Amino acid sequence: MRRPVPSSPPRPLGHPARLLATVGSTMAEAATWAAEGAEHGATVVAEEQTAGRGRHGRAWTAAPGESLLVSVVLRPALPPERLALVGLAAGLAAAEAADGFGAATRLKWPNDVLAEGPEGGLAKLAGVLAEASWTGGPAPSGRATVVLGLGLNVRQTAFPRGLAATSLRIATGRDVDRLAPLGPFLDRLAVRLAEAERAPDALLAAVEARLVGVGEARAVRFPGTGRAPVVGVVLGLAGDGALRIGTDAGALNVHAGEVTLAG
Ligand code: BTN
Repeated sequence: MRRPVPSSPPRPLGHPARLLATVGSTMAEAATWAAEGAEHGATVVAEEQTAGRGRHGRAWTAAPGESLLVSVVLRPALPPERLALVGLAAGLAAAEAADGFGAATRLKWPNDVLAEGPEGGLAKLAGVLAEASWTGGPAPSGRATVVLGLGLNVRQTAFPRGLAATSLRIATGRDVDRLAPLGPFLDRLAVRLAEAERAPDALLAAVEARLVGVGEARAVRFPGTGRAPVVGVVLGLAGDGALRIGTDAGALNVHAGEVTLAG
């Protein structure tokens, strides 16, 4: 007789926590803390960042007190080739947290959270930055650390012209405290991270269900690399979280890049 696989509850996140007024970047703060031995779930939250970072080496700017700016130290039980699932889990967790406030979110691969913008179309509500490192030799003896950052626009009423951005306030009409989505985000992240570790197909299906552009023609750009864009039909996600694109030369998996919002 086959025994059911024992399932332990998701490991809680958010403890211990550091709440800071101003910091360079919560990523740097959390990375230093991780190097000093911070446990899984250690969390850094800031009201303001003076050197916030985004993906592809870009800066991430947010007016003080208007956004949720958080980095979490994660020690996922995942092999190096599946660490991209952490970023996908985080994007999905942020989307689910935002939906709890009345937003109707979608995801743009790999982990941009989109919601209704000031002009009605979809715009960026939140961004995820996952910085992974591996210590202690090859799997399974080594261990992964991911510093997971989330910038979620909460209270903004407008953004600079030309920026396709939105906030929870614009998308839902509700003005909530910038820290209100923190608990729901960490709760959903704990659940989705456990799924990444134990049932990755369920996580991938949940992400894919929210993904914009599936079945449509899109370009994937590779900012800062000089690599030519890949153009094709978005087929879905591969088991390691890569984006599967059907091109004239056949299907290929893209592991890092930026998908255009429209075809
Ligand atoms: C992106 O480019 O979309 C990712 C943006 C991630 C921004 C957050 S804000 C909190 C954390 N600290 C940082 O410096 N970056 C991340």
